[in-house]
Amino acid sequence: MRTKFAYDEWMESRGVPVHRGYFVRDVRALELSWWEQRKCDAAFIQLAGQEGVSEARVTEIKPGETLPAYKLAIDEVVYVVSGRGVTNVWSDEAPTPRSFEWQDHAMFLIPNNHQRQFANMQGNETVRLLHYNYLPLAMSVVPDPDFFLNNPYVPRASSMQNQDFYSEAKIIAGGDALRWGDVERQRAFWYGNFFPDMRAWDKLDALSQRGAGGKSVMIQFAGSDMSCHMSVFPHATYKKAHRHGPGRVIVIPGGEGYSVMWQEGQEKVMVPWQEASLFVPPNKWFHQHFNLGPTDARYLAFHPPTQFHGYSEKVEDRAKDQIEYPNEDPWVRQYFEEELAKRSLKSLMPEPAYKDPDYEWKAA
Ligand SMILES: [Fe+2]
Repeated sequence: MRTKFAYDEWMESRGVPVHRGYFVRDVRALELSWWEQRKCDAAFIQLAGQEGVSEARVTEIKPGETLPAYKLAIDEVVYVVSGRGVTNVWSDEAPTPRSFEWQDHAMFLIPNNHQRQFANMQGNETVRLLHYNYLPLAMSVVPDPDFFLNNPYVPRASSMQNQDFYSEAKIIAGGDALRWGDVERQRAFWYGNFFPDMRAWDKLDALSQRGAGGKSVMIQFAGSDMSCHMSVFPHATYKKAHRHGPGRVIVIPGGEGYSVMWQEGQEKVMVPWQEASLFVPPNKWFHQHFNLGPTDARYLAFHPPTQFHGYSEKVEDRAKDQIEYPNEDPWVRQYFEEELAKRSLKSLMPEPAYKDPDYEWKAA
């Protein structure tokens, strides 16, 4: 058990389930219960790898319902696990609500200190939202929930008044708006506060160093320190094992497969996944993603503050933080091929990739 933080005490006293462990098989089916204050069914997800850095919370909205508005003093990312609805965002300085509609697999940012109200626009389907923010970390600095949830502060110049605030996010050329700690600034990235469909997005760059012909897009929320990335990799392939810091919550917009996570020299944890699965690689644990489905698989990784990259996603020391295919435990390949065979599929991993650690994958 890790140290209990101020956030844990607040979270555990809300009276709704707290889901722990290493993964959630399906956020759409996760057990929730009534949260009187928010007037909805909800649950917290605090997996081992979140390590008291990041919050993940699930909210359900019944058909046709509008939830009461609430304020949060820090930035928050919302991912639409399922359903269709509308969000209104405002503050006392910008009292005319900015309103935008969303559906399955959309993602958006709610800026700090703004009121937000979520509504379900459908009369027959429930909505499930996944919320991600740094509240656990923030409450280690100010251990008073009211400071974050009941604070009368109104930001003076609201960037949200800018009409582009919730227009569709765009790919822009590299530059300082990208706030990631350790990437090449010239690389293009996806920038904005509203991303209509993470499952459909196909403007991706090759990410050759992680293998499997994988592609990815870096995502930066406008006017925020928050960021994330999404990776897409072809069917019947798998990526290289790597490791980094804590707090990165991964959700699957589409695809089918599994990931293996392990601390060096320790037992492996198997994480089966499909659409709406969620998992978090623990701090400094190796993890490796395998696509067992007939189509591309994609995962969306919400980043902790870049101070927590730790072992970085870029992998500064490849020998230490990434396992090249020729160096991996033979079990890795064998198990993958067995699992594919059960589905009458064959591995599309090229044989030379197992021999040459500098094997250059051709982008699909
Ligand atoms: Fe990772």
